[in-house]
Amino acid sequence: MEKQKRNSFKGSLGFVLAAAGSAVGLGNIWRFPYLAAKDGGGMFLLVYVILAVTFGFTLLITEVAIGRKTKQSPLTAYGKLKKSWKGLGAVASLVPMIILPYYCVIGGWVLKYFLLYLTGGGQTAAAEGYFNSYITGQWQPVVVLAVFLAAVALIVYRGVNKGIESFSKVLMPLLVLFVIVIAVFSMTIHHQDESGVTRTGLQGLAVYLIPRFQGMTVSRFFSVLLDAMGQLFYSLSVAMGIMIAYGSYVRDDANLRTSVNQIEIFDTAIALLAGAMIIPAVFVFAGEEGMKASGPGLMFVTLPKVFSAMGRIGGIVGCLFFAMVLFAALTSAISIMEAVVAGFIDRFALSRPKAVILVTAATFAIGVIVCFGYNVLYFQAALPTGASAQILDIMDYVSNNILMPLVSIGTCILIGWVLKPGTVIEEVEKNGTKMGRKTLYIVMVKFVAPVMLIVLFLKSLGLF
Ligand code: ALA
Repeated sequence: MEKQKRNSFKGSLGFVLAAAGSAVGLGNIWRFPYLAAKDGGGMFLLVYVILAVTFGFTLLITEVAIGRKTKQSPLTAYGKLKKSWKGLGAVASLVPMIILPYYCVIGGWVLKYFLLYLTGGGQTAAAEGYFNSYITGQWQPVVVLAVFLAAVALIVYRGVNKGIESFSKVLMPLLVLFVIVIAVFSMTIHHQDESGVTRTGLQGLAVYLIPRFQGMTVSRFFSVLLDAMGQLFYSLSVAMGIMIAYGSYVRDDANLRTSVNQIEIFDTAIALLAGAMIIPAVFVFAGEEGMKASGPGLMFVTLPKVFSAMGRIGGIVGCLFFAMVLFAALTSAISIMEAVVAGFIDRFALSRPKAVILVTAATFAIGVIVCFGYNVLYFQAALPTGASAQILDIMDYVSNNILMPLVSIGTCILIGWVLKPGTVIEEVEKNGTKMGRKTLYIVMVKFVAPVMLIVLFLKSLGLF
């Protein structure tokens, strides 16, 4: 196999912004605020932050360290650590392969909505049934998928420095700026509904931030804990092969501990801000009922109605919002594609251009099938959790609920028991800095994280 020189991020900032770009995605925007509103406001936030600095830290630092130690993408990294474990690398690489097509389909929808708002079509977006009629139309979603995917492919094609690193350095600060502007706006609005009730953004913020313990039983708390864990898992982009691939581009003299802390802080801060941006606005214009929406329903149905109720300014806010979501979706999709492309480069010694073309073609073909899941290939299916599902939901379920927990359980067993936590600790301390939270890390990776992941996995299967 021809040996190609491995790229590396030029600096820690590039790595942190690229990894944070990967982490901050649709999950932060359309699921975090909903869970916070549903799971006791500030109480959920507290549980989430505690989990982020324990469970999230453990999984994130483990994957980044595996990547940097092996200088391989997930497909070959596990085999390099321990030959008999190479199968885990194959499963870990399957995850981004499954996620990429449907993530790009959703990215296409976001692009469509951004363009609608940009061209003054906010009222169209808010019209009853618009989203449904849009995704059930046969070709338009395919066209926006193609455009979104082409943009992702172009950046990955340009490589780690000229593509991913430089792109993240521009988009991430913009994203932060947009989130802050919208959050501040959202907190300062107020509105009187037809029944004469006035609701303010600050009241909405209180719903979000004040911990609510009413009706909190042990089993309810357990369910909040699992919600927070599942969310954190997806949000940090762990178990998707991404952090191993990105870790493999981190230079040996870089301080992994600081970088991982910064990625965690970035992702959590954006998730918290997303809540401060969405919950007050939805509360003011759509009331408690509106806060029950999450996922596509929140982003493509509830929020356009909220923007429309804001009057003229709503068009601008909507445009800013969908631009911000587009940035978040792009930087995450780029990282998902990179995890797959890097695998092809490492395993089959393909050149980057060839790997990108291959992955893009396959992603497009599967993406078209996902789009057709809402029209020509429409069928009625139900997930083990009881939720109704189309092709997109099935792919999401298989990757998020089955494969990702399995990959993480396998990673914890490999590092915690087979190779021992020292493998990761040594890698983190290679540049002479102390890892910090070392005992916590050992206890987490050996005992707590695998047990929590097994419970999460069983819940995902609908077993309780
Ligand atoms: N971590 C990314 C997200 O939240 C994949 O969407």
